[in-house]
Amino acid sequence: MTAAPALPAMLEANLARAAALVNDPAPVSVAASEPLYLGIDLGTSDVVTMAVDAQGVPVAVCLEWADVVRDGVVLAFFEAVQIVRAQVREIEAKLGRRFTHAATSFPPGTDPRISANVIEAAGLSVSAIIDEPSAVASLLGIERGAVVDIGGGTTGVALIENGQVVYSGDEATGGTHVTLVIAGALRKSIADAEAFKRERGHEAWGIVRPVFEKMSDIVDQHLKGHAPVDTLYLSGGSCALPGVRELFAQAFPAASVILPQNCLYLTPLAIAATARGQQ
Ligand SMILES: Nc1ncnc2c1ncn2[C@@H]1O[C@H](COP(=O)(O)OP(=O)(O)OP(=O)(O)O)[C@@H](O)[C@H]1O
Ligand SMILES: [Mg+2]
Repeated sequence: MTAAPALPAMLEANLARAAALVNDPAPVSVAASEPLYLGIDLGTSDVVTMAVDAQGVPVAVCLEWADVVRDGVVLAFFEAVQIVRAQVREIEAKLGRRFTHAATSFPPGTDPRISANVIEAAGLSVSAIIDEPSAVASLLGIERGAVVDIGGGTTGVALIENGQVVYSGDEATGGTHVTLVIAGALRKSIADAEAFKRERGHEAWGIVRPVFEKMSDIVDQHLKGHAPVDTLYLSGGSCALPGVRELFAQAFPAASVILPQNCLYLTPLAIAATARGQQ
């Protein structure tokens, strides 16, 4: 069996570092002269604030599962602002630094001002604002390929040519639907189904596979009519379920399917990376 195609080791190491740092209250020692940059990802399932150094290596990460944003629309503005403020304060305390600026993002096709309003109401200036697949494409140095982001609320697909997003679309099937299917099949509460999905993904795969087949159909429909891509990059927390990469590899046999090990942190890392050199 040939090894699955992978991201550069440095990127995987940065993602692993983000995962190891998440919500760790221990103080972090960074030289005072080291510039640090902040990125804030307002997702459907979670809000992630990440600080990176000048090399793009994560130094502090806060994640809160929160239902405050849906597909680029802020459902609970005040709560979203409170979460961002608390995360920034926590990161500042950990690093012994003050942040005045942060980069943020928006799903393609939505209004960038929505995320910017939250960041500004939390007391920060927006140093950069970028659509999510463009941030990922820039971090991964994708010249041509497709980025498939399976988050909490949606499956998004973006086609990249010459490093630019030339097409994007998304549909409302994401991790929340995966959880609902588990809850229904195993007669569990939503919270228990969510925990089962994250902790016992292998056991959940047989139940949720049809949801991912639908997601791969969504991607196929969106990519139809465009020149075929030879690389498909998976992103978003829902891709962490064992079986997702293989399913996409079978559905797109002509493409290399690349799945980072800590896919939950790819978009937040990409957003924080865009903050570098912007302030
Ligand atoms: N280990 C795991 N196994 C399976 N699913 C997971 C795992 N960890 C997180 N998830 C799922 O990933 C989803 C969150 O991913 P992500 O943070 O990428 O979404 P988001 O950015 O909040 O949503 P969106 O991009 O749709 O706005 C949730 O549905 C969560 O249940
Ligand atoms: Mg997301």
